Amino acid sequence: MIPSEVKATLSFSDGSPSVDLPLYKGSIGPDVIDIRKLYGQTGKFTYDPGFLSTASCQSAITYIDGDKGELLYRGYPIEQLAQQCDFLEVCHLLLYGELPNAEQKPAFTHLVTHHTMVNEQMQFFLRGFRRDAHPMAVMTGLVGALSAFYHDSTDIHNPTHRDISAIRLIAKMPTLVAMSYKYGIGQPYMYPKNSLSYTANFMRMMFATPCEDYEPNDVLVRAMDRIFILHADHEQNASTSTVRLCGSSGTNPFAAIAAGVACLWGPAHGGANEACLNMLNDIQQMGGVEKIGEFIKQVKDKNSNVKLMGFGHRVYKNYDPRAKLMRETCHEVLGALGLGNDPLFKLAMALEKIALEDEYFVSRKLYPNVDFYSGIVQRAIGIPVPLFTAIFALARTVGWIAQLNEMIGDPEYKIGRPRQLFTGAARRDVPPLAKR
Ligand code: CMC
Repeated sequence: MIPSEVKATLSFSDGSPSVDLPLYKGSIGPDVIDIRKLYGQTGKFTYDPGFLSTASCQSAITYIDGDKGELLYRGYPIEQLAQQCDFLEVCHLLLYGELPNAEQKPAFTHLVTHHTMVNEQMQFFLRGFRRDAHPMAVMTGLVGALSAFYHDSTDIHNPTHRDISAIRLIAKMPTLVAMSYKYGIGQPYMYPKNSLSYTANFMRMMFATPCEDYEPNDVLVRAMDRIFILHADHEQNASTSTVRLCGSSGTNPFAAIAAGVACLWGPAHGGANEACLNMLNDIQQMGGVEKIGEFIKQVKDKNSNVKLMGFGHRVYKNYDPRAKLMRETCHEVLGALGLGNDPLFKLAMALEKIALEDEYFVSRKLYPNVDFYSGIVQRAIGIPVPLFTAIFALARTVGWIAQLNEMIGDPEYKIGRPRQLFTGAARRDVPPLAKR
């Protein structure tokens, strides 16, 4: 952190002495006011539910300029990474700070590829779930259970353990997601195949059976790989902050990532891709494009509790750059599959156009986010809707680990412990039962 020459001065209208607070500059983005000593100096906390103006950490991994609609991983624009790199290169970048060079790339690929198998006992653990369990319920359990299988990499304060658990998590997530899918549909699990790329291997584990192999389709593999890249990290979002907070207690990496999976599940976060596709299906069933006006009316009605899923973002007040790339991929995939007239895609584009011209969305700066188009791509690839968020979790795992490891390596890190403004009863005595 670079200290700024400027100081913030906080003054009080009741005549209490004012306090000077240090300011720090980031490499880009807004400065931060350091309020760590505020309580000691004034006996007061700050109040910021939802962290609207609070930086919870310093980080050098991902930068978002919400007004411009810009997303950088370690300084590289997401558009360049999506077009020029594969997911494992992006994993290397997020984890270690740089894209792999020509020697590092095959070594890293080999390392991840040779950790894709999971302990054979995992399938017996999986059998305890109902077949119709939601994949995110299963994934929360499976990821948490990894700490019961890999005891030699559970010490978060040991850098070697952190390195091994990072590789294990990145390598095993596709296997676990595919296993949870196969379990749900009653098909045998497919073991990973090391000759395939990370993403082609995932698709084979999903779609092959022991009776029939899966021939990877380049366009679809590339689309899935792009989905992974676009979801790989997004700085201090709800699930990443959950992983950091969970890890700050010193718990093991698998447990911290399981907490991230649980947080991601919610429809305001990663669950939005599933919710968005369900919304498009509902509108389609109501009558399709002609019913958009009626649907938008419901969205604008404050009492309806209906949201336009896949729209809006806490940070982006402009078009989410990931949504642009996802829309491009949508065209490619639907074209390659001969589904150019896909009714849901047409509906999504019509909905986007109408929403972007509507005063309600314009004045609130609500634009499509990554989830608006990703569901259509995944559905075209053959991914069932309830699995969408599990795929998001697979991809975000590298971001969670990179952020977790960055936090543990930060000398300024402390256990996360927010404070509160207490509004409940002041001290009182317990009355006897007869008088309550
Ligand atoms: N549809 C209708 N109105 C919306 C929407 C939406 N999708 N999003 C925000 N608004 C309205 C909101 O009602 C509020 O209006 P008003 O000022 O009149 O009260 C205003 O816009 C500001 O919204 P907010 O709820 O204060 O914004 P937030 O930063 O707290 O929430 C959000 C961000 C993503 C949770 C929200 O936009 C949302 O629920 N979107 C739909 C779910 C979604 O697509 N989530 C995926 C986010 S991107 C991927 C990820 O993070 O996992």
